[in-house]
Amino acid sequence: MTLDDRYAVFGHPIKHSKSPRIHQLFADQTGQTLSYTAQEVTAEQFTTTATSFFTEGGKGLNCTVPLKELAWAFADNKTNRAQLAKAVNTLAMQADGTILGDNTDGCGLVTDLMTNHAIKLAGSNILILGAGGASRGIISPVLEQAPQALVIANRTVTKAIALAAEFQRPDVITGCGFSDLNGQSFDLILNATSASLSDELPPLPSGLLAKNAICYDLAYGNKPTEFVQWGLGHNAAKSLDGLGMLVEQAAEAFYIWRGIRPKTASIIDLLNAERNA
Ligand code: ATR
Repeated sequence: MTLDDRYAVFGHPIKHSKSPRIHQLFADQTGQTLSYTAQEVTAEQFTTTATSFFTEGGKGLNCTVPLKELAWAFADNKTNRAQLAKAVNTLAMQADGTILGDNTDGCGLVTDLMTNHAIKLAGSNILILGAGGASRGIISPVLEQAPQALVIANRTVTKAIALAAEFQRPDVITGCGFSDLNGQSFDLILNATSASLSDELPPLPSGLLAKNAICYDLAYGNKPTEFVQWGLGHNAAKSLDGLGMLVEQAAEAFYIWRGIRPKTASIIDLLNAERNA
């Protein structure tokens, strides 16, 4: 192993990150030699620590809460999807010494929904809960799949309206508060609030689920999140958490770094089996 093959995830807190395990499984599967560690890095430490990492030969970083906006500012160049998300979860050292910033979260979500779960987004009525960074990261990849309508509902209504307006598609995407959802129903509800992290649930009116509707929580845990339980309790056809998205966004980062795309299905199955054991 050489220094050139060093990767890491920075975040705070980072202790329970599954990323080192996932990238090691990818490396084993694809015959790549690399190291991938998890490093506790606060917002205050980010720029200095990331600069040292790359100066000392590190090849790529993942950045998670609360560093994605800082990583966006840190990158020399950004992909279009990172630019739209205003957040970066993947930094890659380029051959010319510049650092590319990308955001693989939205693409990871869409791959998990469409490829792993055969969920149709085209022509669907989709509700996104939350108007923070997680929500911002998934909007343009979801919009690209041509839903019929995309509603962003948020506790702070002005944030939902402002975020929806940024995408300049008022025919498809609108913002509102949770109480405005009364009387509406959706084919797919994506929970992009951080409520699950504190075992909370946004105040959702009943009747939100259309026939065969799907619930999907971007968060994941060792037990079903409050939102996943809400979906199950309201007879959603499927109520899923974000473990598949986590693996898919990692696979996309691995592809950016190594130019080889790992197969994800067996790894998602393995991680699911481990947490159910
Ligand atoms: P992240 O990067 O995880 O998206 P964030 O940018 O701080 O974090 O955004 C958190 C989102 O979760 C916001 O939309 C927040 O609502 P507000 O904008 O009104 O603060 C939402 N949120 C957090 N806890 C919530 C709760 N208990 N109920 C409903 N929404 C919640």
